[in-house]
Order: sequence, then structure tokens, then C-alpha cells
Amino acid sequence: MKRTWKSFSVLLVVMLVTALMAACSDSSGGSSKVSVGIVLPTKDEPRWVQDEQRFKDALSDSKYTTEILFSQGSSAKEKENVETLLNKGIEVLIITPHDGAAAASAVEAAKKEGVTVISYDRLITNTDAVDYYVTFDSVAVGAAQGQYLIDNSEGKDVPLYLYAGAASDNNAFLFFEGAWSVLQPKIADGTFKIANSSEAEKLKDKAELTRDELGKILGQVTTNWDPNEAKNKAQTHLTAASADLKGDVAVLAPNDGTARSIADVFGTDGDITSFLVTGQDAEKASIQYVIDGNQSMTVFKDVRTLVKDAMGIAVEILDGKTPETTGSYDNGNKEVKAKQTDVIVVDQENVKKELIDSEYYEASEFTGL
Ligand code: GAL
Repeated sequence: MKRTWKSFSVLLVVMLVTALMAACSDSSGGSSKVSVGIVLPTKDEPRWVQDEQRFKDALSDSKYTTEILFSQGSSAKEKENVETLLNKGIEVLIITPHDGAAAASAVEAAKKEGVTVISYDRLITNTDAVDYYVTFDSVAVGAAQGQYLIDNSEGKDVPLYLYAGAASDNNAFLFFEGAWSVLQPKIADGTFKIANSSEAEKLKDKAELTRDELGKILGQVTTNWDPNEAKNKAQTHLTAASADLKGDVAVLAPNDGTARSIADVFGTDGDITSFLVTGQDAEKASIQYVIDGNQSMTVFKDVRTLVKDAMGIAVEILDGKTPETTGSYDNGNKEVKAKQTDVIVVDQENVKKELIDSEYYEASEFTGL
């Protein structure tokens, strides 16, 4: 009797679980509609995890449904993500491409379905299937990094180590272009001497570089946005550097992830007396580095604003209105209507004001503030 009762209750549990699973798959299955699809490039860089969190914060009280997918550094996965979202009936796609040119086919597929495409932070290039672009002022990011090195170095002939982002990312060109615009005159007048790029050395008298010329420099000093690649390159460069390229040096590092690994390498070389190193993104780990004096600066890009702009455009579209923009970017195929946000330079002096007092981060997340 006891045994029968036991098997009956097991059966009951199995039936309940099966019913529950069927109910769950109903609500998340093909029939549920998503209005706005969001595709971000990778969870491996804290920058994009930050964006995901800011999207979630902003969307908690939205009347429209959204879904966020990550492409994990793969254009194939990115295309698959877009298709998944198209199957869920999205009307607007917000996308940061892993590779700006390769993403064209994914957004062309979206366009065919009548979806409005918003390029988020990184521009998708060489296609007319992009409707809007929300971005920070990326040329200003690079210029701020370069200017920081100029304002904080002393003397002449300061060895200058150059690093850049991934050549598949249009922003990497804009950052370097901005940095070059201020650094080149200072290389020409002998304030800095280039330490690690023969291509940059060849072009040192040219104030404005073509995309091809920028591509040549990037080809030598790219980090691919990968802290490990940055670390390996920095090690190779310091091993090859002669004594006159050591001492007090300046380092243009394109973002925080690469800045920290480059700083770790420069910090352990006995012949480097001091180094300035730039960054960008205000990642938590780099804020701690800035507080501790291990990274000189970062460029704070307030992702809350970018999320607000992207969702603002998406909601206007869904409501049948025409979004307002503030300018445009040439993506090689068309002028894409754009909304641009300013950036803020952060160093030890203003880190508390800009990141804690502005409630971007909490003081308890850091030590030694
Ligand atoms: C850029 C982005 C930066 C940085 C970098 C690495 O496109 O604008 O903020 O995070 O990618 O992912």
C-alpha cells in the first residue's frame, strides 16, 4: 500500500513538472513577440557587460518588450542572433557590430523585413541598411588621450609607445585619428619620439592620415581589443627597445582592458622610470587603477546616455514618429543620421566627482578613494 502511494506521488510530480515546462515554453516560444532586439559584441570585455546592465536598468519600466543577445566576438553568431530576433518579430534592431563591415549582411536581412536598424556605438560600414547611429564622439576620445600625454609629459624626446584597437572596428580608426591629430605636431617638434611603430615613424610629418595610412599603423600596433595581445605586444616592444626608448615614457593605450595589461608590463620593467598610460571606458577595474596611480587616465563614456538615446530613437519609431538627430556619419555607402554624446576625461583629480558623485558607481566598489 505504502509503495503504491509512493509511485502514485512520483507520477503526480512528473505530470506537474511536464505541465509546467509546457507552460514555460509557451510563453517564451515562437509566439511571444519582441519589439526591440539588442545585439552586443561580447561579454569578454567589461565595457559591453556595462552596456547590458544599463539597458536592463533603462528597460525595467518600458512598455515595449526587448531582448539582448551577445555575439561573443563572432560575426556568424551575430548573424544568427539577428535571425533569432527577426523570428521573434522585432521592429527595431539596436546592434553593436563585432566587425563593422561583416555585419552588413546581418542588417541587410533585417532591413528586408522592414526593421529599423540602429548602429550602437560602432558604425556598420559599407551598406545602406543602417538607419541611425548613436555614438560617443570617438575622435574626441582619441584627442583627449593624446592631449593627456602632451599635458603630462616633461622635456623633449619622450619615448612614445602607440597602441590601437581592432581594425575591424571603425572606432579604432576614429580613436587613432583623434590621437594623431594632437600628437603628430608634438612628434614633429621633437617632444615625443615614436618607440614602436616604423609605419607611424614613416608618416610622422603628415598631419592628416588617409584610412589606408591609418590601417598600416593599426596593422602594427593593434591590440584587437584583447588584453592578452596587448600584453604580448608590450613585452615584445620593451624587449626590443634600446636604452634611449626607456626612462620616462608615454603610452597611448586605446581602452581600459588593454591599458591595464600594458601598464602591468611597463610597471615591471626596471628600466622604465615612469610611464603615462591612457585608457577609455571607465571600467571599474581601471577606476581602481587610476585611484592607485597605476593608470593615468580613462575617458568616461556615460553609457546611460547612449542607452537613453538608442531606446529614445527605438520608441519614437515604434510610436510612428520621426526621431531627432544631431549630425551624420559617412559609413562608406551613405550618410547615416547620428546622435552623438560628449565624453569626459577622468584622472585622480576628478574621479570621485565624475563617477561617484554622478552615481555612476558606488564608493563602496573601490578602495582608497
Ligand atoms: C569600441 C568602443 C570602446 C571600447 C572598444 C573595445 O568600439 O567604442 O568603448 O570598449 O570598442 O570593446
